[in-house]
Amino acid sequence: MTATIIDGNVIANRMREEIAQDAQRFKEQYGYSPGLGVVLAGDNPASQQYVRMKQNACKKAGIESVSHIMTKDSTQAEVEAAVAQLNQDPKIHGILVQLPLPQQVDEESILRQVSLDKDVDGFHPINIGMLGMKGRDPLFTPATPTGCMVLLNEIGATIEGANAVVVGRSNIVGLPMALMLIKANATVTVVHSRTKNMPDILKQADIVIAAIGKPNFIKGHWLKPGSVVIDVGTNRVDDPESEKGYKWVGDVDLESAQNVVSAITKVPGGVGPMTITMLMHNTMKAAWRIEQAKQR
Ligand code: GUN
Repeated sequence: MTATIIDGNVIANRMREEIAQDAQRFKEQYGYSPGLGVVLAGDNPASQQYVRMKQNACKKAGIESVSHIMTKDSTQAEVEAAVAQLNQDPKIHGILVQLPLPQQVDEESILRQVSLDKDVDGFHPINIGMLGMKGRDPLFTPATPTGCMVLLNEIGATIEGANAVVVGRSNIVGLPMALMLIKANATVTVVHSRTKNMPDILKQADIVIAAIGKPNFIKGHWLKPGSVVIDVGTNRVDDPESEKGYKWVGDVDLESAQNVVSAITKVPGGVGPMTITMLMHNTMKAAWRIEQAKQR
């Protein structure tokens, strides 16, 4: 079997065009653009790169972005002040606090201070709690797992009743991913660095979401024939053959996996472009909600 390679760029670009039209309609109705506020503290190069990409994508779609770029020595009070300012700004509809924060800053406390109406990353403890509870719906769900759900739906994967295995348990991807799959009626197993029999568990999986951050870690022979794989991993590895000296690979060994599974995402160009798209989608939802509430 040769797998379908899922191209996130194609799906993301289509959605971004719709978002741009929506942002235009918003501007015509209210006289100004939807706004995203970004807080970046520290000098983590990956975070700086994410933030640049988010700003560029917003600009292209007609979403205004305002950034608070702070040093790695920023204090709790300084990060709190940046969030408070964005909370109060009537032209800001969504707030993104880029993670990880510097270690002297208490992440939980910062995320708790983001206005629920503007929590477009879905990381406020109340939104995460509602995501985990039956019969409750959070206002916003985290961008990366939401992008994975969109990709699964786009390729027509059956989620209800499927055995889904999430590899990794991070607060940003693995945990909310597992909660979203439970809400979608999958049978969900979470495996991680301490799991003893990972290949045996993966062999039962109809859907695999790989988010463990280890290059080419999951091998084709661990996977169930015909399964669907969403690879969230974006790992930089040395590549003397490339001009730059490195390349990006996923958590799944694509070469061996593509002969086993029915569909698998590209890395790069799979989940990555979807993450930013879902953030913009959430920002539009926040913008309409906030403005419509002002009319009442
Ligand atoms: N760091 C890595 N991914 C993300 C993300 O999706 N949102 C935020 N806020 N921080 C991140």
